[in-house]
Amino acid sequence: MRTVWAPRVVLGIVLGMVCAARVPVIAAAQAGPSSAAPTDSPTALGYSAKGADTCLACHGMDSKVTAIFRSPHAQPGNPRSPFGHGGLQCEACHGPGGAHVKAMGMKPAGIVVFGDHSVTPVSRQNAMCLSCHRGAVGHVWPVSAHAQNDVSCADCHHLHGTNDPVRAQATQATVCAKCHAGVVAQFRKPYHHPVPDGTMSCSSCHDPHGSFGPAMLVKETVNETCTSCHARMRGPFLWEHQPVSDNCLDCHAPHGSVVPALLTEQPPILCQQCHEAAGHPSVPYGPQGLPGGMPNPYLLLGGCVNCHSRIHGSNSPSGQALMR
Ligand code: HEC
Ligand code: HEC
Ligand code: HEC
Ligand code: HEC
Ligand code: HEC
Ligand code: HEC
Ligand code: HEC
Ligand code: HEC
Ligand code: HEC
Ligand code: HEC
Repeated sequence: MRTVWAPRVVLGIVLGMVCAARVPVIAAAQAGPSSAAPTDSPTALGYSAKGADTCLACHGMDSKVTAIFRSPHAQPGNPRSPFGHGGLQCEACHGPGGAHVKAMGMKPAGIVVFGDHSVTPVSRQNAMCLSCHRGAVGHVWPVSAHAQNDVSCADCHHLHGTNDPVRAQATQATVCAKCHAGVVAQFRKPYHHPVPDGTMSCSSCHDPHGSFGPAMLVKETVNETCTSCHARMRGPFLWEHQPVSDNCLDCHAPHGSVVPALLTEQPPILCQQCHEAAGHPSVPYGPQGLPGGMPNPYLLLGGCVNCHSRIHGSNSPSGQALMR
């Protein structure tokens, strides 16, 4: 039977210092690849005899390794934790290490290795985590763009430590930037959602574990995602502006823009993508609109929005031109 690790950490470290070769009993049997379930007889399944103590005899000097004991996973009192009573400790994540120990660690035989340099297939790495976290990660994960493109849990999550940068708003984008540098750079444009300030994060809009929406948005549509914070634009309005109820992205760039209010284009060009420049007087015309002449009142400052200020829709009985 396994013992609770806590009082034995020190022993493990001491063991590691005194004699790295003095490894406790080594597992006899070879392990099946997915035998991560707790069992009364770990050695029979290829796990090391003394769990973390075995591992720490060699790895106990590495502070990057022992940092796991300061992480949310080190909860001796939590039966669902790898280090809870009856838990498989290190091997709950790294898989049965019996063969690895037997080989004196010379090569990480059979052990599940995480991270960029890992030779362990991503599906196997992720299966270790999913054995405990299927519920938290959700049922959409297997069809998410991340799972489909062999992104591993450990590509985002850092577990040997107190902080997991991807779960903190202020540091999350630096993790995403490893693979989405182009998107993260858009937040350096003059107008952007306050992600660089750390008051918002990518996961305010995206669920990195997957969703039923486009681009793994937290809601099922772009508009539901946006109006979950910008409720004023949700409507319904007496006088709708059709593109607003269709898709906010007809006019706004979600990540960043050089135009104020995150617009994709400056009015009047923005508006003239859909509204004819000819019909309504929306272009400089007549003598006063020509270069050097008086500016056309239709195009002053915010241009169209100076008059059509209820651009997202109007609830005024006479608001059909979105002016009140
Ligand atoms: C006899 C000493 C020894 C024991 C006991 C031991 N290891 Fe290792 N382990 C090593 C050596 C040596 C390496 C390869 C060198 C390295 O990368 O640190 C290694 C590598 C690893 C790696 C891969 C590290 C990487 O970045 O490639 C993991 C993960 C690992 N061990 C986990 C464990 C676990 C879990 C246990 C307990 C079941 C364990 N080890 C027990 C000596 C040992
Ligand atoms: C909750 C899952 C989990 C547990 C429990 C766990 N590890 Fe890890 N381990 C990981 C992940 C994920 C990584 C990749 C680096 C990271 O996320 O910090 C890793 C990395 C490592 C490495 C490579 C470190 C490096 O510098 O590249 C070693 C060695 C290791 N773990 C050994 C252990 C030992 C020994 C224990 C038990 C004391 C243990 N791990 C417990 C998930 C776990
Ligand atoms: C033996 C079960 C088990 C395994 C295996 C496991 N975890 Fe956990 N994990 C837990 C428990 C228990 C917690 C503590 C929080 C809780 O009670 O839900 C936790 C916490 C976390 C948290 C922090 C969540 C929070 O709310 O603080 C993350 C992130 C996480 N695990 C990711 C992983 C990843 C990635 C892997 C695979 C490398 C992994 N876990 C493997 C059981 C496990
Ligand atoms: C693309 C990066 C990314 C990948 C890949 C990823 N996660 Fe996460 N995970 C996150 C972020 C970001 C959060 C914080 C979510 C939030 O703040 O709403 C999180 C939160 C969590 C939590 C905390 C509980 C929760 O739902 O908030 C757990 C547990 C977790 N992830 C486990 C996993 C496991 C297991 C995998 C692999 C199957 C995985 N994650 C893959 C980015 C990722
Ligand atoms: C290890 C690399 C990696 C990391 C880290 C990563 N991603 Fe991804 N992400 C990918 C790959 C690969 C794809 C699929 C190909 C593509 O669309 O670029 C993807 C796709 C996406 C998509 C588009 C999904 C779709 O359906 O079009 C979003 C949104 C996304 N990631 C958000 C995030 C967020 C947010 C983070 C940080 C919390 C993150 N990613 C971290 C690799 C990564
Ligand atoms: C204000 C909400 C919001 C925030 C914050 C946000 N996104 Fe997005 N993201 C979106 C929307 C909306 C789309 C486009 C969906 C579509 O075109 O249907 C998108 C698309 C994407 C895509 C896929 C298309 C592309 O442009 O490559 C990736 C990858 C992505 N976001 C990553 C990120 C990352 C990484 C962060 C954090 C640095 C982030 N997003 C922050 C709303 C947001
Ligand atoms: C999680 C909440 C949240 C979500 C979701 C969200 N936003 Fe925002 N949005 C904000 C915050 C916070 C600001 C900054 C407000 C400020 O600086 O006063 C902002 C600012 C803006 C601005 C600029 C306001 C200005 O005065 O310049 C626009 C435009 C905008 N968001 C559009 C969108 C669109 C379009 C979406 C959907 C793709 C969206 N937002 C999703 C929270 C959110
Ligand atoms: C037809 C183009 C268009 C569409 C579609 C559109 N907007 Fe806007 N939005 C604008 C314009 C133009 C401004 C600038 C208004 C100004 O300068 O007074 C603006 C400003 C904003 C602002 C900041 C100013 C404020 O009033 O708080 C937010 C937030 C915003 N839009 C959110 C949204 C959301 C959410 C959607 C989708 C439901 C959306 N917009 C759809 C054109 C549009
Ligand atoms: C993506 C296309 C699109 C963009 C961009 C767009 N609109 Fe519209 N707009 C429409 C559609 C479609 C209608 C509905 C037309 C109809 O009912 O005949 C409409 C209706 C209107 C109306 C009400 C007209 C009426 O007769 O009811 C006004 C005013 C208006 N738009 C102004 C603007 C302004 C100002 C901008 C720029 C800030 C703009 N629109 C950007 C597509 C767009
Ligand atoms: C000086 C104020 C003003 C400015 C600036 C302005 N409009 Fe108008 N707009 C109006 C008035 C007044 C109407 C007519 C309302 C009515 O007939 O009920 C109107 C009507 C419209 C209509 C309804 C269809 C039509 O032709 O009657 C559209 C579409 C429209 N404007 C688009 C625009 C666009 C695009 C711009 C910018 C290029 C713009 N407006 C700039 C005042 C303005």
